[in-house]
This record gives sequence, C-alpha cells and structure tokens, in this order.
Amino acid sequence: MKKRIGIVFGTRPDAIKMAPVVLELRKRSDEFIPLAISTGQHRQMLDQVLQVFDVRTDIELDLMRHNQTLNGLTCRILESMDTLLAENPLDCLLVQGDTTTAFAAALAAFYRKVPVAHVEAGLRSHDIYQPWPEEVNRRLAAVVTQLHFAPTPLAAENLLTEAIPAQDVVTTGNTIVDAVHKLLEMQTIEHPLPEGVPDDGSPIVLMTSHRRESWGVELENICDSILELVECFPHIRVIYPVHLNPNVTSTVEAKLSNRDRIHLIPPVDYFQFLSLLRRCYLVLTDSGGVQEEAPIFHKPVLVLRKVTERPEASLLGMAKIVGTSREMIVREASRLLSNEYAYKTMAAGECPYGDGRAAARIATALSRWLNGERPVLHDSEQFQGAASSEQVSMGSDELVGHAVEVSGEDLAGQAEGRGDSIC
Ligand code: UD1
Ligand code: UDP
Repeated sequence: MKKRIGIVFGTRPDAIKMAPVVLELRKRSDEFIPLAISTGQHRQMLDQVLQVFDVRTDIELDLMRHNQTLNGLTCRILESMDTLLAENPLDCLLVQGDTTTAFAAALAAFYRKVPVAHVEAGLRSHDIYQPWPEEVNRRLAAVVTQLHFAPTPLAAENLLTEAIPAQDVVTTGNTIVDAVHKLLEMQTIEHPLPEGVPDDGSPIVLMTSHRRESWGVELENICDSILELVECFPHIRVIYPVHLNPNVTSTVEAKLSNRDRIHLIPPVDYFQFLSLLRRCYLVLTDSGGVQEEAPIFHKPVLVLRKVTERPEASLLGMAKIVGTSREMIVREASRLLSNEYAYKTMAAGECPYGDGRAAARIATALSRWLNGERPVLHDSEQFQGAASSEQVSMGSDELVGHAVEVSGEDLAGQAEGRGDSIC
C-alpha cells in the first residue's frame, strides 16, 4: 500500500529545506503519495522559493497576516490544520525546523493521532529565549515527534541526551545542502549584482538580520556596526536583503537607508542569494540557513547572535559568534577585512552540515519506518558528519565558550552612541 505523507512548510527556510524532500518523495511515487501543504506563514518570501524549485503545493492555507502575532498565527494554523487532517487521512506528517508552522502543524497532527516525523530535529541552543521563540518551537515539536531526522551527529546526540530512544533518531545531513546542490545543478549561480549595486570589484559584505530577540536596541547596534565598518573600509560595499517583517524594516531603514555603499534591497530569490553568497567576501548574519550555507561556499561567517544552535561551523573555526554588540562586530569584521591569514584560516574547511543526500536518507528511512523495518537506517547509511566530526563532538562540551556575553551597560552605551570607533 502506498503511504500518504503530508509535507508541511510555510516560511522561506521551511520551503528551502523541504523542497528536496517533496521532490524526492514525488520521485518515489511507487511508494508514496506526497501531499505538499503550505500554511502560507510567509507569502512573497515563500513564493520566491517555490518558483525557484518549481514545487507546486497541493493545499494552500494562506494564513499570513500583516505584522502577525505568534499566538494569532499559531491559532490559525491549529484550526486550519485540524480541518485539513480531518479531510485528508495521512500515514505521517513531516514538519521541518523550528518555525511556528512546524510546531503548530506537529501539535495539530498529534491531536489527530497522525504520526509526526521531524526534519532538522535536535538542534539546541539550551536557552529558551535565544533564538526566540524558535528554540522552544523545536523542543515542543520533538515532544510530539515519533521519528526524528537529526541533521548532524551533534543534533542526534542532543536528542539522545533527552532520552529519546536511539532507534527513533536518524542522522541524515541537513536538506539545505541538498537544496544548494540542486540549484548548482540547475544553473550556474552567477547572477549580475542586484539592481542599483555597482559592479566595481569592491569586496562585498553580505548581511542579513531579522531575529525577533534582536528587535530594538540590538538590531540598532548591528546597524551601527555596519555604518562604522563602511566608514573604516572605504573600499567595501554592504548588501543587505531586508526581511519583510515590519519590525525589522522600520529599524533598518531608519538607520541605514540612503547611505553610501550600503545597499538595502528587498528579499532576493534563492538563485540570486546563492549567487551573492558565492560572490561575497564575508557574511554577517543571524539566519540559521545562511550559517549552514556559507561554509559550502567557503565564506567566513560572523554570527550576529549571542549563542547558536548550529555550533558545528564555529567549532571548526569557519564561523564566529560575535553577538550584537557594535564593538565586537566591528572588531571581528575588521580583522577579517584586514588580515589575510585570519581570513584564509576561516575560509578553509568543508561544510559540516550535510553531503547533499539528506532527502534520499529521509525517504528511505520513512519508507522502512512505516513498513515496520528496524533499524530504519543502518549506522553506515547515516550522515557521518564533518571529516573532523570528532573535533566537533569534543568541542561541544565547550559550547559555553562559543557564546558571547554582552552586558546591559554595553548595550545601553551603544544605543546612546557613546562607543568610540575601534577599527
Ligand atoms: C519567521 C520564523 C523564523 C524564520 C523567519 C524566516 C517563527 C516563529 N519565526 O520569522 O524562525 O527565521 O520566519 O524568514 O516562525 N512578511 C511579509 N511577507 C513575507 C513574509 C513576512 O510581508 O513573505 C511580514 C508580514 O507582515 C508578517 C511578518 O513579516 O506578518 C512576520 O512574519 P513571520 O513569519 O511571523 O516572521 P518571524 O516570526 O519574524
Ligand atoms: N535567503 C533568500 N533570499 C534572501 C535572504 C535569504 O533566498 O533575500 C535564503 C537563504 O539562502 C537561506 C534562507 O533564505 O537559505 C534563510 O532564511 P531566513 O534567514 O529567512 O530564516 P532562518 O534560516 O533564519 O530561519
């Protein structure tokens, strides 16, 4: 009997990471009847992704509202998913990551006793407010999940530490690596620079920042650090595709619009973003997905957060957590812009997040799991992690050292613009 699998997504990163899974399950049509379900948590940013991967959704819930609240969105997803699940019997619902879509859809499935499988399970920052609310969304999804697809050995370890039975945890690699590989196969990722950005050979700093926990003073600090960097390094250009959340655009536009060599642009499609990633010199980001993609292109990443649930790249020296303090961001970015040795050291190494075969592993494991076969994937079939995964695993004990502490006083001082130039 073919298995009916619901695959739910709603935001830009859900869709990028689920697209390879949808395409893989559709390929295995002798085994699966996949149903691609969009909550529509995002609209324009989601449509950009679906067009690039040519993924047609089977059911569209269209739930985004302007400046939506977490509670409002969660209620709409629960209600709509409940009706959907009542009308569409499923053998399993696949959810991805840590968004409200992932958590609320998993809960709705649990209430309908539909088994849940969680893609990108097991990442942990161990701080419920960072990232907020995503750390908790991901943990809550785990509670109602029966099959956990951990992207890396470290994520699998986190789940085992929480007493999840080993036979329910499969290490697959992150599907974002599959997504990047797919696009690289589809076309050469070499777009012209976005409209309005002169192609004059200037080194490009690519940045994104949108996390809820940074709204307000911390996002202002991040913007101040960009102003300072552009002043200190007159040869660089900063390209910042700004998230459509109005709480982000209002701060970023007030601080950074109409500044020389700072290019605020609307979100770009995935081809263009990967093209920028390939082209840029350095990445400054608080995005989860961008932290995973940058090492594929050997680009050093400065992580604009105080702690990350994706520590592998920083444990291998390919990323650095710099927090949201103006001083720290400027100091670390300056070092990479002026010290070739420091730059080359960070640009070396292989991406620790996946090998491009995650979706295939997920489909095989799902098929075996639904047919009662155990283990669902033999150890040798699972993703083994970075070549230096031992180093990652050893380093994970020292994660605290990879977090950045910034005092309230620092933040207040920066907000008032008291910090002296340090580059
Ligand atoms: C959400 C995710 C976050 C993820 C981010 C990815 C949660 C809790 N957070 O962020 O993990 O990193 O998406 O981008 O699920 N908007 C548009 N068009 C769009 C998308 C958003 O106009 O295509 C505007 C709308 O006004 C919307 C607002 O942005 O109400 C916020 O969208 P939302 O999905 O709630 O964003 P976040 O929760 O900040
Ligand atoms: N991305 C994109 N266009 C942009 C900015 C980002 O396609 O203008 C992609 C990026 O390559 C990554 C994903 O969006 O794969 C990250 O999404 P986001 O930062 O919104 O969410 P997060 O990963 O932080 O949850």
